[in-house]
Amino acid sequence: MLIRIPAVLDPQTLATIRQCLAEAAWEDGALTAGSQAALAKQNQQLPSKSEAAQQLQALVLGALERHPLFFSATLPKRILPPLFNRYGGESNRYGDHVDQAIRYAAGQRVRSDISATLFLAEPSDYDGGELVIADTFGEQRVKLAAGDLLIYPGTSVHRVEPVTRGARLASFFWIESMVRLDEQRRLLYEMDMSLMALREQHGDSPATVQLTGTYHNLLRMWADT
Ligand code: NI
Repeated sequence: MLIRIPAVLDPQTLATIRQCLAEAAWEDGALTAGSQAALAKQNQQLPSKSEAAQQLQALVLGALERHPLFFSATLPKRILPPLFNRYGGESNRYGDHVDQAIRYAAGQRVRSDISATLFLAEPSDYDGGELVIADTFGEQRVKLAAGDLLIYPGTSVHRVEPVTRGARLASFFWIESMVRLDEQRRLLYEMDMSLMALREQHGDSPATVQLTGTYHNLLRMWADT
């Protein structure tokens, strides 16, 4: 399931992040890729331990926490510290790959159920750079407004098309979900969105209360906390 989560960053936070990235020292992105992915990866990354990266991580994690759709769509158990990348010039693409299933953060193993890309440059700032994801319905080509987030299953083959003008800036990270299977998360998300719409239209009718109970009981059955 691909879900676009709009306006995760407000304009002020976005401007702060972009200012910081404009002054940052980048390194070769292939340093942090697995051996299969390193062959395909040609971009730049902010060193994850740098002071700049740590400040920006806190801004992104804070924004995710405040966004109601993010929780509903991902049902997060653990979120890996967000990383930051730049595609442009000679380092302008990332060929087809699948993200590593298990990643490490602060001595913990984290399963990458969900991959996330937070777009930080406006689409008019660069040409190319679409995130292309192989989905059950065929290839999806995605390029979102700055501040919007895309989440997609960690199991997907995906790539970033060559950037032929300007620079594509993004934050990317992985989420281990309380609900491991994409199909179950999709059902819960769709049900939650429908419940929100029903509540808005009809208030808390007895049927809506019942259905809200069903949502929580499914979550109780499937969630691993
Ligand atoms: Ni990837």
